[in-house]
Amino acid sequence: MPVNSVKHTGFGVSLSESASMNLLLKNGTCVTPSGTAVADIGIVDGRIAAIGTIGTAAAEVIDCRGLHVLPGVIDSQVHFREPGLEHKEDIATGTAAAALGGVTAVFEMPNTRPATTTAALLADKCRRAKGRAWVDMAFFVGASAENVVELATLERLPGCAGIKLFMGSSTGDLLVPDDATIAQVLANGNRRVAVHAEDERRLKERYTIVEGGADVGMHPEWRDVETALAATRRLLALAQATRRRVHVLHVTTAEELPLLAEHRTLATVEVTPQHLTLAAPECYRELDGFAQMNPPIREGRHRAALWAAVANGLVDCIGSDHAPHTRDEKNQPYPGSPSGMPGVQTLVPVLLNHVAEGRLSLERFVDLTSTGPARIFGIAGAGRIALGYPANLTVVDLKHRRMITHLAMASRCGWTPFDGLTVTGWPVMTLVRGRIVMREGALLGDPAGEAVRFLECL
Ligand code: DOR
Repeated sequence: MPVNSVKHTGFGVSLSESASMNLLLKNGTCVTPSGTAVADIGIVDGRIAAIGTIGTAAAEVIDCRGLHVLPGVIDSQVHFREPGLEHKEDIATGTAAAALGGVTAVFEMPNTRPATTTAALLADKCRRAKGRAWVDMAFFVGASAENVVELATLERLPGCAGIKLFMGSSTGDLLVPDDATIAQVLANGNRRVAVHAEDERRLKERYTIVEGGADVGMHPEWRDVETALAATRRLLALAQATRRRVHVLHVTTAEELPLLAEHRTLATVEVTPQHLTLAAPECYRELDGFAQMNPPIREGRHRAALWAAVANGLVDCIGSDHAPHTRDEKNQPYPGSPSGMPGVQTLVPVLLNHVAEGRLSLERFVDLTSTGPARIFGIAGAGRIALGYPANLTVVDLKHRRMITHLAMASRCGWTPFDGLTVTGWPVMTLVRGRIVMREGALLGDPAGEAVRFLECL
């Protein structure tokens, strides 16, 4: 049924009596751009065809009374390890974790083996996702000294989320540490560049602090505040000089925030659930190497500053930085242990628990996990419950209390830093373009994720 046969009636719309819908979500509390209210959502051919009071004429009707229906959560930073490191994760397991966690689309990072630096390697990832991804996907292309002149072409290829730049070394070998090459990266292309901002020179200088073995609690000492601040300062100066927009991933320090606020027109800001939830030194005592990530989890004053930036609007989105490593790898002595923790399946419950505890409104949650990523990356038709939009929806039960456990994790790594945390708020249904891919903790149907489409892509 064409969407334009929908009749507008006040708050929402209703379908003409003769229309047949594929799916009808009845009586959910819907978070829409025009407010949060109880409404029915009618879905036809994967799109939202009606919002309002709709009756019951549909192939399938689901009662959502007492549940909240949100625009599909988009996790704009995950590492799925395929190709090359599938013993940690692959596209099938990573996207299963996403769907089970209420996430409808993920943007995957390029530090696989080989790193995603060419059109052929991007196309290879898109091919691998076909028929195996449970949710929609896009892939970042990694910037390197070798591909710098091709970036303007690469960033516009189908399935490309944009360019990712590592200023400091982390997992994998992608690295562009020097100003001259970073300026070249920024000068080649138009889309917003996603950046891991840690200063490589300072990381190298300070490595002696931990070299040869140290307590993992030293991680934020080695990769200190100045390491992050110096890189962000350099990045913003270069972005200004080249007039290129950037997206600063996983911001962790109080000190970077005023600087980012001064450069609102150039830079968008991501924080992660783990930096908003965990803090040093406790996290290292409790989780040991499983708390190790880059940039590090820092002291409570930084966490408080990140929350203030969430509250005052500076933070544009929350991504999980899902970075699975096996338990054996994480149990290696520091600093030989790899950095990163899984998070795609726990992003929604952990953040809903912050909603339950009053740190975040549900509307701001939607802004940070759906509307925000759609705006930052220019996703075509996402981030809101609106007529004609693809029916990417995350249905949550804000009252449901449940303990997060290692056992429930679908990620191949099989652990979560939040094991044992009882949260209030849980995803109960994930819809990708009108198809229910998860309901009550079970995956449904077949993996039929597609490439996310962007306004500036070919
Ligand atoms: O802790 C991290 N792990 N930070 C990154 O930047 C990369 C990630 C990974 O891929 O393991």
